[in-house]
Amino acid sequence: MSSKDVVREGVDEIVRNLGEISFEDQTVLITGGAGFLGSWICDVLVRQNASVICLDNFASGLESNVAHLMNHENFTFVRHDVSQPIYFDDERIDVVMHLASRASPLEFNKFPIQIIKANTLGTWIALGIAKKHNARLLFTSTSEVYGNPEIVPTPETYNGNVNPVGIRGCYDEAKRAGEAMCMAYMRQHGLDVRIARIFNTYGPRMRADGVYGRVVPRFITQALNNEPITVFGDGKQTRSFCYVTDQVEGLLRLAWFDDLRGEVINIGNPNEITVLELAEIIRRIANSNSEIKFYPPMPDDPKRRCPDITKAKTLLRWRPKVGLEDGLRNTVEWFRDVFSNFTGYSK
Ligand SMILES: NC(=O)c1ccc[n+]([C@@H]2O[C@H](COP(=O)([O-])OP(=O)(O)OC[C@H]3O[C@@H](n4cnc5c(N)ncnc54)[C@H](O)[C@@H]3O)[C@@H](O)[C@H]2O)c1
Repeated sequence: MSSKDVVREGVDEIVRNLGEISFEDQTVLITGGAGFLGSWICDVLVRQNASVICLDNFASGLESNVAHLMNHENFTFVRHDVSQPIYFDDERIDVVMHLASRASPLEFNKFPIQIIKANTLGTWIALGIAKKHNARLLFTSTSEVYGNPEIVPTPETYNGNVNPVGIRGCYDEAKRAGEAMCMAYMRQHGLDVRIARIFNTYGPRMRADGVYGRVVPRFITQALNNEPITVFGDGKQTRSFCYVTDQVEGLLRLAWFDDLRGEVINIGNPNEITVLELAEIIRRIANSNSEIKFYPPMPDDPKRRCPDITKAKTLLRWRPKVGLEDGLRNTVEWFRDVFSNFTGYSK
């Protein structure tokens, strides 16, 4: 199957699973819409006959993720840094989905200020747009707001154990501030806000560059190239990986239901595995000869990461459906096809 087919089938599946949940005839502003998750959301919404305004500055997103939508009548692309003011005076906007933020650990070292700005100033600007249009706003927060959690599986009521001055602080604390800003706009201005705490999500359209980048694309790239698979620490740290189609369905459910104002909901897959197990599964699926190499642990790397998804199951009528092996097979297939035509990232 080609990489395009993998994505097309995934979009079909999301639309099918959403059933009556449709954004038809609504106008949805998606900040970070050229990124991994944002571009899948754009695809699903265009398929549902929504009007999509995709705002992105290509900080970590790729033009190729949305190139196929550029000439679609229901799709508008705005190249803009979300932390700078922008107004949409001439459009009607029904829903704002604020995803714009670099999210890879490599980028916490390189671009900490931009990450803080996208999640604080950028959230403030996204909230201002929602307020002006009386639109609903969904903020994509992260499991990182829990830091190194003392309760696992972690429920939304856990307040976190974050190091504000560590390398990850720029991301974790900026997301926490973004959440607080959403709640402030709800309390002071009556805005309809929703907060998704996203747990590790993987799938086609993740970027593969960066040695310290996200673990799934890094392992897949290394395995496909028969290079050593780099595990930081002893590999016994756990993560729970959600396939992109499940994640996008969960996010759209959270944006859609009417009675979820002010709700904070974990969206992820509670199937917890060690990073070493992940490396072994990917090596097998990719038919790779890679050895597994261990490096010193990354600072403040959480020991366990697993969501309690009781709330999502109840309020969103959602649960993850794609098993890890199936999701990884699709992802490996996608990367294999993309790499066979790969000429390098444009920057
Ligand atoms: N994928 C995950 O596992 C995961 C987990 C937790 C939270 N999240 C959150 O979900 C959102 C989307 O993540 P993703 O995995 O798609 O990452 P991504 O890096 O692929 O997408 C982020 C997008 O935001 C854009 N962007 C960044 N800064 C911007 C700015 N200042 N102005 C305009 N656009 C900007 C990037 O160019 C990119 O297209 C992020 O907010 C991230 O923190 C993702």
